Amino acid sequence: MHKSQPAGGRTAEKGAGLRDRFNRRIDYLRVSVTDRCNLSCVYCSADRQRSCFSAEQLLGTNEILRLVGIMAAHGLRKVRITGGEPLLRPDLEQLVEGLARLGVPDISLTSNGILLAERATELHRAGLQRVNISLDTLQAERYRGITRGGDISRVWRSIRAAQAVGLNPVKINVVPVRGLNDDEIVDFANLTREDDLHIRFIELMPTGGSRLDTGRRYVGSAEVLERLGGLGRLEKLPRPPHSTSRNYRLPGARGQIGLISPYDGHFCRTCNRLRLTAAGQLRPCLFSPKTVDLLTALRSGAGDEELEELLQWAVALKPPGNDLAGAGRCAIASMAQVGG
Ligand code: 5AD
Repeated sequence: MHKSQPAGGRTAEKGAGLRDRFNRRIDYLRVSVTDRCNLSCVYCSADRQRSCFSAEQLLGTNEILRLVGIMAAHGLRKVRITGGEPLLRPDLEQLVEGLARLGVPDISLTSNGILLAERATELHRAGLQRVNISLDTLQAERYRGITRGGDISRVWRSIRAAQAVGLNPVKINVVPVRGLNDDEIVDFANLTREDDLHIRFIELMPTGGSRLDTGRRYVGSAEVLERLGGLGRLEKLPRPPHSTSRNYRLPGARGQIGLISPYDGHFCRTCNRLRLTAAGQLRPCLFSPKTVDLLTALRSGAGDEELEELLQWAVALKPPGNDLAGAGRCAIASMAQVGG
């Protein structure tokens, strides 16, 4: 926990919403519910992910709901559940139900899709609205290699199940990596012609644990756009506020293509988010190591007011933008721990 209030830290009145030092309204929380994953993608973790934490070090569902309840009183509008792989948590449906009961208007999930098909109906019924599914290749053998053992047919079953139960839109996260899957950029884009999927190309970021030379393997959004050049005129779609992606549509296509470009920092200017790690640390920015310890406060009997103060502290710690370009190899400790 940090010992002094950062300069310029502001507190917000209840109901007025949380605002940071740069007058950004903070109304979006990404909650990592586990740092474990059932896959081990080459750009993400060094080894099949085992938790760095014991079960007691992870936030329980009721603890998460208590924190979200406090944020909800300050105008929280959106919660995304992330991991690790969130579906490794057996009580995910209860968490979603609790979020819905707190009145969070927008509840979404990021998953690798291996375990989603079986639980899509129940999660949707509990109040889940949308899913993002990570899928970096359309080829079964390649998928096995990239994820170290994953079965792509399970991911497709989950994508279809998500669409069938009404999780909408279904977004597919693709991280193009040179020499690994960059020859499939056009194939992914072509999926959007017949299928109402949102394919989002995310620029590879340097993370601890990655076994790749992320600098050399990086494929920038400009290059992705260039490679899509032969597919016809891309229609640029209006950008929803706070969106991290620039969105396009191929002529006559049902789905969309999105480009997520963390290096140019364009979405920092409208950043509206905080991250809560599985171990109960509030993280003001994906690219900054600063955290505010909520776990200790929760477990030592803090009242709502104290938790509110810590929340406002985290908001005040939000930096103006990321320094990815200058950050070197390990800008982010580990996606699995921070929650992407
Ligand atoms: N660079 C870019 N995206 C990443 N993800 C995980 N690691 C990285 C990285 N190093 C993506 C995953 C997932 C999302 C939450 O973050 O593909 O879809």
